[in-house]
Amino acid sequence: MTDTGSVPKSNPSVLEIWGRSSLKGHVTISGAKNSALAIMAGALLCPDDCRLRNVPSLVDIGRMGQVLAAVGVKLERQGNILDINARHLNQSKAPYEIVNQLRASFFVIGSLLARLGAAQVPLPGGCAIGARPVDLHVRGLQALGAEVQIEHGMVHAYVRGNGRRLKGAKIYLDYPSVGATETLMMAATLAEGETILENAAQEPEVVDLANFCNAMGAKIRGAGTNTIIISGVPSLHSVDYSIIPDRIETGTFLVAGAITHSELTLSPVVPDHITAAIAKLQDIGMRVIQEAPDCLRIIPTGIIRATDIETLPYPGFPTDMQAPFMALLTLSDGDSVITETVFENRLGHVPELNRMGADIRIKGNNAIVRGVPLLSGAPVVATDLRASAALILAALAADGKTTIQGLHHLDRGYEKLEAKLQKLGARLQRVSDHSPIKAPSVTQSPVNS
Ligand code: EPZ
Repeated sequence: MTDTGSVPKSNPSVLEIWGRSSLKGHVTISGAKNSALAIMAGALLCPDDCRLRNVPSLVDIGRMGQVLAAVGVKLERQGNILDINARHLNQSKAPYEIVNQLRASFFVIGSLLARLGAAQVPLPGGCAIGARPVDLHVRGLQALGAEVQIEHGMVHAYVRGNGRRLKGAKIYLDYPSVGATETLMMAATLAEGETILENAAQEPEVVDLANFCNAMGAKIRGAGTNTIIISGVPSLHSVDYSIIPDRIETGTFLVAGAITHSELTLSPVVPDHITAAIAKLQDIGMRVIQEAPDCLRIIPTGIIRATDIETLPYPGFPTDMQAPFMALLTLSDGDSVITETVFENRLGHVPELNRMGADIRIKGNNAIVRGVPLLSGAPVVATDLRASAALILAALAADGKTTIQGLHHLDRGYEKLEAKLQKLGARLQRVSDHSPIKAPSVTQSPVNS
């Protein structure tokens, strides 16, 4: 039994990949990182045992466990089962050094405020993909009756009066922010009265969090639509809950099949969670068929057609699949325009893909991707989590050897990615790296997710 106070080690190393290998077989998809992170924050709402199943073993999950342990939560992990007990929360302050490394840990502010009537959570920093503000979280908590001051990089939130209990309110989100929707949904779960979240995020991870909270006795309706209604309850009870499969990992492996012209099967998956990505793969010329309710098969057809992609809030094309799909489109038969509308700086993988022989030009938040017949292996540096996946996918198709630095990004968000790829026949290995990590070709700051 290991507690999740420990973070799986991500050693300073590089990934060596030999390209032009075809893949074959079946890949098992892990639990959804972004669902598990939100649900761990949601477990703070419950003064009883919560058992979470299908929790992936990732650096980010370990870090979230450290944040929970720091406020008094008991955690125990056995395989992909995580037992959480938040009966004795002994303080309302989350530690800076962890929140600064994991943006998602900011989401605990809603649960802490709901449970204790107070919360001090460090302002998460920006990261490689953008400034990542939390103004929508803060304004929503104020609408629920919290007093919020931000000073010295710390968000201080208090509920004064009303028995220190938040009060339901009608909140309109200027942007369907996933994190703000989740923070406010958690805060409203124990508030007095009814809360309406309008222009709410509709991502499957928001629905998973709502289902988890309802399984603990919460009263949340409308999750998955743009209007979520939460009727506050006095307290919640224990639960045994299984996290949904990771739709972004699913999309990443579908692209692995497409870019290497390999037929693969994947399970467990929820096909409805990746409709946009499947539609795009079919545009590009792939066959994607449902073998079983939770199993997909990708069958390449020998061509990779150019197509345009615009990232949007769910159910639009997911921003987390932008980089993997860009890797695929570098080998298309024409010109593709990829427009990133969700984050302001999520094209850091472009210069690195160009080092591998891709032909991509950036104009504002658009990447114009002119297909080339073949990529060539090269030393490259990952700039963020999904960029690292894109570089691996490109390397699988490239001619020759690629070495990828910056693997700490990869270890935050993909469980056993190398082992899963090796099982499919990919030729790659992680070797310890003695050369200093080259400064990547984009400005960098501590990375969050
Ligand atoms: C979640 O981040 C995911 N992370 C991200 O996945 C994902 O890319 C993103 O949603 C969009 O789907 C987790 O769930 C842990 P947002 P989040 O709030 O909640 C702006 C990955 O690779 N915004 O929906 O931070 C923000 O700057 C990660 O797994 C505000 O302006 O995303 C961005 O431009 C990366 N003010 C846009 O909204 C706010 O208060 C979308 O952000 C909040 C957000």
